[in-house]
Amino acid sequence: MSQRIQFSRTGGSDVLEVVDASPVEPGPGEVRVRNEAVGLNFIDIYFRTGLYPAPQLPSGLGTEGAGVVDAVGQDVTHLKEGDRVAYAQGPLGAYAEHHTLPAEKVVVLPESIDFETAAASMLKGLTVQYLLRQTYPLKGGETILFHAAAGGVGSIACQWAKTLGVKLIGTVSSPEKAELAMANGAWATINYTEEDVVERVRELTDGEMCDVVYDSVGKDTWETSLDCLKPRALMVSFGNSSGPVDGVNIGILNQKGSLFVTRPSLNGYADTRERLEMMCREYFDMLESGKVKIDISHRYPLAEAGKAQDALQARKTTGSTIFVL
Ligand SMILES: NC(=O)c1ccc[n+]([C@@H]2O[C@H](COP(=O)([O-])OP(=O)(O)OC[C@H]3O[C@@H](n4cnc5c(N)ncnc54)[C@H](OP(=O)(O)O)[C@@H]3O)[C@@H](O)[C@H]2O)c1
Repeated sequence: MSQRIQFSRTGGSDVLEVVDASPVEPGPGEVRVRNEAVGLNFIDIYFRTGLYPAPQLPSGLGTEGAGVVDAVGQDVTHLKEGDRVAYAQGPLGAYAEHHTLPAEKVVVLPESIDFETAAASMLKGLTVQYLLRQTYPLKGGETILFHAAAGGVGSIACQWAKTLGVKLIGTVSSPEKAELAMANGAWATINYTEEDVVERVRELTDGEMCDVVYDSVGKDTWETSLDCLKPRALMVSFGNSSGPVDGVNIGILNQKGSLFVTRPSLNGYADTRERLEMMCREYFDMLESGKVKIDISHRYPLAEAGKAQDALQARKTTGSTIFVL
């Protein structure tokens, strides 16, 4: 038998239950991974609460993990039993001892990258890869605003932006988070619980404002973020930590300076095997060169998935959280 987390109705963290089930045999094109570690991401909360609908209920949860391939379905050519692997996409169900998923979503993990680092950062690291290198290909010299700079995605973004020669201004909610973002390479931080974000950006940039704003907070920060941009600059709205941005009058982009806006996702960028491999190569290089280090601040057993999600949702975490099996 194999332990997994599932939910039969959407709601608070109390809907998560631990169940014992037989590990699912992989079908054609699939592999089964015996997870060594599993990543916690904000998107898991969107599925649990119903903001993003799960394809069916009961449903597993989670899409990020690392472990060893322990069964291989027909027609899989790039993986074999015993391979060390990681994944960040595919069907819900990574919160489990065994996860069966399409082999095309699974990549071989270089020996130098341990399971915990991979599980803590595959989804977040590939997200930063596309945000900084594809959505807006930063060249160096730009000034960007990045919300939640001490979080899982934010901690990687601070380090990556620094290596690109980009001035990252990070928003945070406490002095401790500010210190962490600076240690990770942020150029400046703004504690939005005490400071006016737009005014502070104006001061820090001598009135120039930002080339790009990366906003994963959503509802609470939408307008503030637009006000931090230069004319004709890019707003990247990539998350809903405070709730989704809705009811937007597109005319606001005109009023605030002929702005551009995009709402990207990892699945929209890593949408072919070639693109996934390209993004992994670049991300793994960042890890192997030591330019990006992963801060695993919180470790939980799978059975405490609800507790871990509550801490993430309550802004009590920094860096990455993983489940250790
Ligand atoms: N589109 C994509 O492809 C993609 C991929 C990965 C992640 N994401 C998004 O990126 C964001 C970060 O994900 P993560 O897993 O690394 O989480 P995280 O950044 O570690 O945690 C969320 C952080 O957001 C900040 N926050 C601001 N307002 C909040 C609110 N009302 N409720 C909760 N948190 C709030 C908090 O930092 P402060 O206390 O410093 O404000 C909190 O620690 C999420 O929105 C996620 O959905 C998007």
